[in-house]
Amino acid sequence: MAMLHVQKNFPLNITTRVPTTELFSKNGHFPIKFYSYPKNEIIRSKKTNHLTLGIDHVIDPSSFSSSCIKALGDHQGDVLAHNGIGIIDFFEDKNILVTGATGFLAKVLIEKMLRTTPKINKIYLLIRSKDKEAAFDRLTSEIIESKLFKCLKEMHGGSYELFIKSKLVPIVGNIHEPNLGMDSITAHQIAQEIDLIVDSAANTTFDLRYDLALEANVNGPYQLMLFAKKCKNLKLLIHYSTAYVNGEREGLMYEKPFTMGESITKEKVTSHSPSTKFPSLNVANELDFVSMLNNAIENNDTFNKIMKDLGSERAKLYGWHDTYSFTKAIGEMVIDNMREDIPIVIIRPSVITSTYEEPFPGWIQGFRVIDPLLIFYGKGEYTCCFGDPSSLVDVVPVDMVVNTTMAAIVKHGHLQIPELNVYHATSSYMNPLSLSQLFNYGFEFFSSSPSVNSKGDQIKIKKMIFFDNMSDFTNYILEKLLKEQEVHDLKMQMRIKRKVEYLENFSKIYEPYTFYKGRFHNDNMRKLMEDMSEEERKNFNIDESKINWRDYFAGVHILGVKEHVFNGSGTNMDCGAVDGVTPPITRGRGLDPGYGENSVGSVATLVDPAMRNPN
Ligand SMILES: NC(=O)c1ccc[n+]([C@@H]2O[C@H](COP(=O)([O-])OP(=O)(O)OC[C@H]3O[C@@H](n4cnc5c(N)ncnc54)[C@H](OP(=O)(O)O)[C@@H]3O)[C@@H](O)[C@H]2O)c1
Repeated sequence: MAMLHVQKNFPLNITTRVPTTELFSKNGHFPIKFYSYPKNEIIRSKKTNHLTLGIDHVIDPSSFSSSCIKALGDHQGDVLAHNGIGIIDFFEDKNILVTGATGFLAKVLIEKMLRTTPKINKIYLLIRSKDKEAAFDRLTSEIIESKLFKCLKEMHGGSYELFIKSKLVPIVGNIHEPNLGMDSITAHQIAQEIDLIVDSAANTTFDLRYDLALEANVNGPYQLMLFAKKCKNLKLLIHYSTAYVNGEREGLMYEKPFTMGESITKEKVTSHSPSTKFPSLNVANELDFVSMLNNAIENNDTFNKIMKDLGSERAKLYGWHDTYSFTKAIGEMVIDNMREDIPIVIIRPSVITSTYEEPFPGWIQGFRVIDPLLIFYGKGEYTCCFGDPSSLVDVVPVDMVVNTTMAAIVKHGHLQIPELNVYHATSSYMNPLSLSQLFNYGFEFFSSSPSVNSKGDQIKIKKMIFFDNMSDFTNYILEKLLKEQEVHDLKMQMRIKRKVEYLENFSKIYEPYTFYKGRFHNDNMRKLMEDMSEEERKNFNIDESKINWRDYFAGVHILGVKEHVFNGSGTNMDCGAVDGVTPPITRGRGLDPGYGENSVGSVATLVDPAMRNPN
């Protein structure tokens, strides 16, 4: 296996695509190890030979309950009547590799594919685990037994397990290792078989250590592209990015791919003051810099701290809000740079929320981006917001992202044109929702279904108050707490001080989103919708313009979070509050990402892992 050797300070050519293998240098001490393969290792074969790590099983239709047969029959009949883009037909006999399968989004995708396109052949799930048995255990406990799959379970009755195990094949792997961490025999077989790759693996912690973020979100796509090139039958690669790769851009943002070395700072500077110098983003230099620091700094704590700060500094330097969106943007650049003749679709969702309607409304995994704001508002812990009430909160229910994915797979999988298409799976252009509306819907919900405190008393909340100035915001909190609490000792004073500091930090993490000044154009989504038949639009709903946000937040989403994240105890959850003073999300394991299905989102990582019940 040849390692790459590249000169330091390799100048990236922004206008022409340079081979990405030339971008990365190999450095023995570098925490991110980029590998390359000799050309003759590229595996191309027409022969398919199914892996049978799962259980090969053909469903016996006689084992379906009558309601299940009807559900399947109706669904398929509808779609076949007016073929549209042919979603159901397309998936027949297809083999798909899904990364990030234990994550929130991929799980909903897997469920939908199995429920609506049961003639799909195999779905290979790349799962981080120490061995096959452990991967199988994760498949069982985190996917097959998840509440999300309850409708599928009802449809298949007694043969559910056999059905699902005949389709889902867990594969031990790691996205940022050569061959995606698969052993060579498995990698070879998968490369021969798969028609499609859906890449949903990422580290989604906003303020992750820079080296770790580069490893997951840049080296991951790099290794994926190397592997994709070995897959002879590959028709399309779908990669999930985020709408926030648009960084500090403002106004209307289009579905435009990145090219290597682009930076938002450069765009801003050239349009506002052409003569000003801007920092050039050179990905190879970023990697070398991290590598050099890794060599130079021996103390782990110091290294951790420097890497945390560095990610955020570099992101801001080049015009992104945080390490996550910055490294996701670089990941997009790497994919574009390496794609050659592989057709690529990049889907950029905004903030993904609970299911809108399918398989049932309100399912969610993990305590995600906007949820801490809403839930702690309902608990009376978060009474004022550092943000602009008119700024837009762009959210998209997870089932709509999944439907967009399936429709885009079919459209571009049929065409197989070696190009890169971007889809904004977003709502702010078609159906804007403001920050003040979001809290108004939260107010409606918690006024009619109040949370209760540890003593069992109902918590009364007031309308959200907004501040556009941090010192006014913190002074207001301080005064309010001093009024509410009897401060008779130093300990209590310290608690109040800690709460104010905590809310200040919490608000700083959210600042880019609570003052957001952009809207995501989604013309490609609109065109996709036009291509679909009426039945497909019904069965694979991607029309966010029809969502009534009030009904969704007050009637579906908040309930969903309470039920699926807090196991129904959302009104009386122990969020770590100390006498109602310590804010609820100060406990936990710090900001390191960790593994497991709920290690997501910067805020989620602040929460006690014990609270993160996936089902
Ligand atoms: N959720 C959102 O609001 C949102 C919004 C916009 C875009 N996105 C994008 O959508 C995609 C999916 O997001 P999500 O919310 O489903 O994330 P998630 O719940 O955090 O899941 C991430 C998945 O990636 C896996 N993973 C992480 N590092 C890996 C590695 N080195 N090797 C193999 N697997 C690895 C995780 O496995 P473990 O279970 O082992 O940790 C998990 O299955 C990501 O690309 C994300 O950037 C998400």
